[in-house]
Amino acid sequence: MKKQTNQNIFDLYDLLLEQLRDLYDGEKQQITFLKKLSNSSETYELTEFLSYHLKETNRQIDRILEVFDILNEEPGGESCDGIKGLIREARKLADRCLNEEVLDAALITAIQHINHYEMAGYGTAIAYAKALERHDIAELLLDTLREERRADMGLSDLAENQINPDAKWSALMKKIEPVSNTKM
Ligand SMILES: [Fe+2]
Repeated sequence: MKKQTNQNIFDLYDLLLEQLRDLYDGEKQQITFLKKLSNSSETYELTEFLSYHLKETNRQIDRILEVFDILNEEPGGESCDGIKGLIREARKLADRCLNEEVLDAALITAIQHINHYEMAGYGTAIAYAKALERHDIAELLLDTLREERRADMGLSDLAENQINPDAKWSALMKKIEPVSNTKM
């Protein structure tokens, strides 16, 4: 029989379950968020990244469900307030961006904050699984951690090579313009 959720935490196994449920809820929250972001971004590369990351997130949800299945436990019962807060922050930040280039840079920052939160969560869950000698679970979670790391590197690359140079360039042009307009 499967365990009830939202139970008190007595041992490392309970803590592992709590962490997994938190990650599960966090991934699900991101599905809605990523879909909305894909519609907000004006940059081809960022939109491509977002649709790829959406597929990846769906795969990560399946992987967590597989873990719960192996453990014969229920995946629900936790609400990830961390991801909820980060998404709320991202929305507030995006609403204040009135320039497309800056908006894309802000969206990248927002997803990176979420990714870093997730990397901490997956890293912790892997450590717990290893301590409990559940290397089968650790291996599955490691696949997701690797994906999150790759996504983070992809975002950094995007920020440095696709988004920021344009923003820097526009800022530079604005600085240069008054000089070039000056009568000699
Ligand atoms: Fe994820």
